[in-house]
Amino acid sequence: MRLKNTFAILLTAATLTAVARTPVYLDDSKPIEERVNDALSRMTIAEKIAIIHAQSKFSSPGVQRLGIPGIWCTDGPHGIRPDVLWDEWDQAGATNDSCVAFPALTCLAATWNPDMAALYGKSIGEEARYRNKNVLLGPGVNINRTPLNGRSFEYMGEDPLLAATMVVPYIRGVQDNGVAACVKHYALNNQEVDRSSIDVYVDDRTLHEIYLPAFKAAIIDGGAWAIMPGYNKYQGDHACENRRLLLDILKGDWAFDGVAISDWGAVHNTEKVAANGLDMEFGSWTNGLNFGASNAYDDYYLAKPYEKLILEGKADTALLNDKAARVLRLIMRTEMNRNRPYGSMNSPEHYAAARQIAGEGLVLLKNENNLLPVSPDVKKILVVGENAIKMMTVGGGSSSLKVQREILPLDGIRANASSKGIEVDYQRGYVGDVTGEYNGVTTGQNLADERNSEQLIADAVKAAREADMVIFIGGLNKSDHQDSEGADRLSYDLPYDQDKVIEALVAANPNTVVVNLTGNAYAMPWKDRVPAIVQGWYIGSEAGNAIADVLFGDVNPSGKLPFTMVVALDDFAAHATGDASVYPGVDGKVTYKEGLDVGYRHFDKLPAKRVNYAFGHGKSYTTFDLGKPRLSNSILKADDVLTVTVPVTNTGTRDGAEVVQLYVHDVKSKINRPYKELKAFDKVSVQPGKTENATMTIDRRAFAYYNPETSLWTVNPGRYELLIGNSSDAISNRLTVNIPEAITWCDSE
Ligand code: BGC
Repeated sequence: MRLKNTFAILLTAATLTAVARTPVYLDDSKPIEERVNDALSRMTIAEKIAIIHAQSKFSSPGVQRLGIPGIWCTDGPHGIRPDVLWDEWDQAGATNDSCVAFPALTCLAATWNPDMAALYGKSIGEEARYRNKNVLLGPGVNINRTPLNGRSFEYMGEDPLLAATMVVPYIRGVQDNGVAACVKHYALNNQEVDRSSIDVYVDDRTLHEIYLPAFKAAIIDGGAWAIMPGYNKYQGDHACENRRLLLDILKGDWAFDGVAISDWGAVHNTEKVAANGLDMEFGSWTNGLNFGASNAYDDYYLAKPYEKLILEGKADTALLNDKAARVLRLIMRTEMNRNRPYGSMNSPEHYAAARQIAGEGLVLLKNENNLLPVSPDVKKILVVGENAIKMMTVGGGSSSLKVQREILPLDGIRANASSKGIEVDYQRGYVGDVTGEYNGVTTGQNLADERNSEQLIADAVKAAREADMVIFIGGLNKSDHQDSEGADRLSYDLPYDQDKVIEALVAANPNTVVVNLTGNAYAMPWKDRVPAIVQGWYIGSEAGNAIADVLFGDVNPSGKLPFTMVVALDDFAAHATGDASVYPGVDGKVTYKEGLDVGYRHFDKLPAKRVNYAFGHGKSYTTFDLGKPRLSNSILKADDVLTVTVPVTNTGTRDGAEVVQLYVHDVKSKINRPYKELKAFDKVSVQPGKTENATMTIDRRAFAYYNPETSLWTVNPGRYELLIGNSSDAISNRLTVNIPEAITWCDSE
């Protein structure tokens, strides 16, 4: 008995000693901050320096001596990028890195449905987690200032509130998997021309009202664990070395506690980057392992050169500790979180999510005589256009993917049509870009066609005459100078003479539907002659199925445009004057002279005929009636929250969903303001003959402008109108809100 007790005492003591010996940083019952501080206190300067910069194209080292793992990043934002070699952009040749491609972020924005953003974030986060990636390089939320921007397809449109609302659930969904979202490209990275050096000048009010809100929401409401300062400069300093953007705004006003990770190769100066708030450096010039005898990663600005400054006492050690602590926090939140789920990949659920998001994001721009959905009387369809047969998941820059499968539009249409006994023919119509390769991933498609353009059009026209209906699938693609990273578009027109093809088709067969896949607005000189137009996007793995779902009516379209489609390039304020200093810049400088006049904020000042399709526009196969809205209170004081309820009646014969939009109009503004600004929206599904309520809440933020003199958000007292409709150009009701007293606050409150 005594022996047993002694043994028990010895055992308990042994266990206690073992527990006491578990270092705090490894003990996940302890709060993260304690673990971070403990780990930091054990690390040498060299170890702290090591974890704040890359060791390969996409990874950073941990602390081997302490058993702290490193970090693996992956692009983003539409699927998980295939693995590249340790230090080359060429493929690693892995066999487990084919993924689901989700629809481009423009398509997600076009759903106007935060639930779709949550589903997207959850699904892509699961894929990242399954592939053991810790940081997803996305989502992107740069505002669509010009339709020429080659990367618009990776962003969420022209409106700060729409982008801010959609980015938050995406981030949360990703991070619930123990994977960090890295919001990009902070900030003012609105063009690809001269992207590494262009120096942006923008007034403070525009900065805060247009270009920062989506980033701010990502950090404050989404709780993003990482952010990517972009390539460009802002007021003289590169974004990665920009004290104002990183220290004053991000880490100051928004109290960001995550990691600022440089865009790949976006760092230029050790002193500045050390002092001004960047935490991790990736992608600098190195070609690493074969760079000669020394390891080129040691030459990174935040590697040996930084260590030298620290050792010489020329850089602040507290700042190094702060960077290292943030990286440790990121590691604890991701790789060292034992409670994170395991993730999953290429699951039926992920394909279903991709298809559902795409179905909700396609926008029916026009549908004369209810040409769509395809009528049961149609027996023969002719599909025309290169984008019907071209894989679109390969190309376009860093968001390029290697997919497990991609349903092409023609195949999706064929499958759906054959289930209904409809015959489908195909004609090319035009030859655009027949290549399909990115960083060693090839589509394997042979798109060569020897016919000249006259012959291609003649063949398509002949076939169009013999069909009951023509579906043209064109638009832009991911080639250079289209929707692609590293360069902007050179023209607002559709390329490869597609306008001619469309005109010829509609002349040959009036039942012609145009479906354009793009990430940007474009000219539509044929708009009045084509009876039905669908705005498609880069849709990913389920492209063909999703397009067919909408064309054949299995899905009732409910997408709304996240940007305006105007007639000509010079309708955009950034292009209106042709002043090169406004776009694309002169002597390395670009000045956003148009200020707040971005998207509909500018087009509201133009004659209506300059707008082909307005921001927020999108039709359905059913019809809706927005009833009389109710407002919880017509007076707003500082901390009030107002609720607006709008009854939405489905007056047609199909299930459908409508997006109710609420814009604020300052009736007698003392300051220069856009006529109206989106401040809330709600998407509701309604059955035929039924009525459902759309519910929106607003508070003081909906009425505020940013006062650059006081640096305060400011609501002037007075009368405001809430404009309610189902598009920015279809306002059906107005409510009045009175604000008796001025309200002000600052971002850090
Ligand atoms: C892009 C980023 C991307 C990074 C890593 C850069 O060129 O601008 O968006 O995440 O490369 O591939």
